[in-house]
Amino acid sequence: MFITFEGIEGCGKSTQAELLRKHLVQQGHAVLVTLEPGGSRLGAELRRMLLSLDSIDLTREAELFLYLADRAQHVQKVIRPALQSGRIVISDRFTHSTLAYQGYGREMGLDILQQMNSVDVNGILPDLTFLLDLSPETGLRRALSRNMEKNIPSSEGRFEAEALDFHTRVRQGYLELATLEQDRIVVLDAGADPETVFEEIRKKVDQAMKVDKNVLTSQSTKVK
Ligand code: TMP
Repeated sequence: MFITFEGIEGCGKSTQAELLRKHLVQQGHAVLVTLEPGGSRLGAELRRMLLSLDSIDLTREAELFLYLADRAQHVQKVIRPALQSGRIVISDRFTHSTLAYQGYGREMGLDILQQMNSVDVNGILPDLTFLLDLSPETGLRRALSRNMEKNIPSSEGRFEAEALDFHTRVRQGYLELATLEQDRIVVLDAGADPETVFEEIRKKVDQAMKVDKNVLTSQSTKVK
């Protein structure tokens, strides 16, 4: 099973990914938590370039190709092998981030981005995506205080430095994507406390795992 978390800065994706990892490990599953950008060795280099404020003055096209390069490497070197070895993979951001940030945020064409994403992932799609929805004002406040707590230099806040209307477009974009992909994307109110948000996630995942197991069992019964 492949599960992704999406949302604007400060929505609590990494906290929820970690809670879900613990829950699944307790149930005896092998789990990999990973992230974009930065989930592969190449990705770690790209993440530094992409998030640094004082790096090269990236054009939106150059930015897009770096995110796509990060994902191609991540899918082929990390996600696909982990899924093939039977692990559950949880990724903090995936293809929907490109649609929301580059498509809605940077106002690039959605059709072409969908096509590029599809070449990029080569058939690997999330079974379930949690969209942690939050107002950009709250998200940015949380992200900036987290950066201060974790001593993340303010020079690494390229996206936090974007204007509020950029983040508002990204949030609206995510909500639109969720209406288009209702089977895959579960929208949650990330303004609630983390335990309440996690309870919703746990229920959905447990239910999806049960369905998955039943499908596998009925398939193997048919084969017999
Ligand atoms: P985060 O992982 O700390 O949330 O930061 C990653 C940043 O990169 C975030 O601002 C969203 C942005 N991003 C894109 O613009 N496009 C993408 O395809 C991905 C994966 C991330």
